[in-house]
Amino acid sequence: MNRFIERLLRPAAPLALALATVCGAAPVLAAGAKPALPQMGFNNWNSTHCRAEFNEAMIRGVADKFISLGLRDAGYRYVNIDDCWANWQRDKNGRLMPNPKRFPSGINALADYIHSKGLKFGLYSSAGTSTCEPLKENRGFPGGLGHEKQDAATFASWGVDYLKYDNCNNQKVDARRRYAAMAEALRATGRPIFYSVCEWGENKPWLWAGKPPVSAGSWRTTGDISDTYASMLKNFKQNVVLDKYATPGHWNDPDMLEVGNGGMTDVEYRSHFSLWSIMAAPLLIGTDLRTIRPDALKILLNKEVIAVDQDPLGVQGHQVSDANGIHVIVKPLKDGSEAVAVFNETDAARAVNVGAREIGLRSGMHYRLRDLWAHTDATGDGSIKLDLPAHATAMYRISRL
Ligand code: GLA
Repeated sequence: MNRFIERLLRPAAPLALALATVCGAAPVLAAGAKPALPQMGFNNWNSTHCRAEFNEAMIRGVADKFISLGLRDAGYRYVNIDDCWANWQRDKNGRLMPNPKRFPSGINALADYIHSKGLKFGLYSSAGTSTCEPLKENRGFPGGLGHEKQDAATFASWGVDYLKYDNCNNQKVDARRRYAAMAEALRATGRPIFYSVCEWGENKPWLWAGKPPVSAGSWRTTGDISDTYASMLKNFKQNVVLDKYATPGHWNDPDMLEVGNGGMTDVEYRSHFSLWSIMAAPLLIGTDLRTIRPDALKILLNKEVIAVDQDPLGVQGHQVSDANGIHVIVKPLKDGSEAVAVFNETDAARAVNVGAREIGLRSGMHYRLRDLWAHTDATGDGSIKLDLPAHATAMYRISRL
């Protein structure tokens, strides 16, 4: 659609949602309700995988850091634990149990601790007979397939606010059925539990996971990220073309952040954070916050970039160009301004020129260009001219003067 027409239509969106509600169609959003923004928080997986350091002391320590490092104030809310939290077997009543070595105080106590900090707690399971971690004595950790009602009730009784639901050992049962069964079980508990579908984009979840009966808050669009530039780039490219499927409260998820884990340069981590934000992706920190480097923390705390991710208009940025390895992504913002990310995928520095029309701006007007990494302002005709180092991203907020 012509961007100018798109802009004219924008103010009508809340009305359309209200009408959808009135007419009895399944409402995406109750009229007047704030759109649910991409989830922000922490998950231990990228930093610990299943290693023994993943335990309740670590997670409590991370929750403490949310406060002392200013992450809660920056909007990060969820403290989520991933695979390997569970015991190898269910108890005699079929109930999931935590691993007694890692979580001797139990999951309920951990959730209480996290709640006492004004934070929310997330847990992991798989829509299969067992989770993803390798088998021990030919058994994995128990998964939720066929146990949805009991497991959801257990999660609710523990005070879980978020479920990441994986795809391993799924016995080839249809994905929509598996993910709907857990969605329904979660709803039946009466506790609001954010539902994060993690089937790696295998069954095109962007076409169904955001809609009833699944109505997930997010769905993974890619395989697992790892702490390399190549992996980050791959997930970015798979996710950036799916922008039209993201709606407020229902987001594409290119996997969790690697910022701070040491496998990329800070230039690359800034690109990672910029690209995830312009794509309105979940911002789930994947590094151990107890030992994070100040430079990495600074990236995660860039409030101007976070504000792009969390903009209440709730639109995933659209890639307007990717010629010769220079990606230009534009995200319309609630106040009428545009966020723009310019990313140099290539291994060489490049002189870049992005015209105002390419960004969708009207020519012949004056604009303010706020540089979201340098935190400086410039004025101009809306075009962007810059020298961009290899793998770097520049990010702006452009508004009419
Ligand atoms: C899958 C998921 C990962 C992580 C692991 C845990 O690979 O995609 O994000 O949860 O399982 O085993």
